Amino acid sequence: MKITINGTVQDLTVHDNTLLVDVLRDQLHLTGTHVGCDTSQCGCCTVQMNGTAIKSCTILAVQAQDAEITTIEGLAKNGLHPIQEAFSQEHGLQCGFCTPGMIMSTVQLLKDFPNPTDDQIMAGLAGNLCRCTGYVNIIAAVKSAAKKMQGQ
Ligand code: FES
Ligand code: FES
Repeated sequence: MKITINGTVQDLTVHDNTLLVDVLRDQLHLTGTHVGCDTSQCGCCTVQMNGTAIKSCTILAVQAQDAEITTIEGLAKNGLHPIQEAFSQEHGLQCGFCTPGMIMSTVQLLKDFPNPTDDQIMAGLAGNLCRCTGYVNIIAAVKSAAKKMQGQ
């Protein structure tokens, strides 16, 4: 099968029951996409598929045939993305395990709501769980990222 990952077409051989997240991590060594559960709840595995945030543990690799996938590594291709900068500057992480998924969901959130309210941020990140931060700094990071992306 063929999938475009972070702008590069990958020609892969996969089992029909292999999950997309396992292809990313085990075959392509893109280990920035994390696995934090086996119940589709944590959001650590979030990537963009054809411009939409998805949990890569919830789809089979074969369902991504001919799709364009962006992982956290792809976001940082030309230096840190403004969302990554904002999470760093606002201390929107502690252990960092949830952070790639939080950031990939924030990409979607800021597409949908360029100036999000607290409620919109909480709804947009409802599928991503963080065990460390208490979310206050994550919300601050998303607001900061929104400003950066509008050049403010
Ligand atoms: Fe937890 Fe995908 S690994 S939602
Ligand atoms: Fe540790 Fe979120 S920073 S789980």
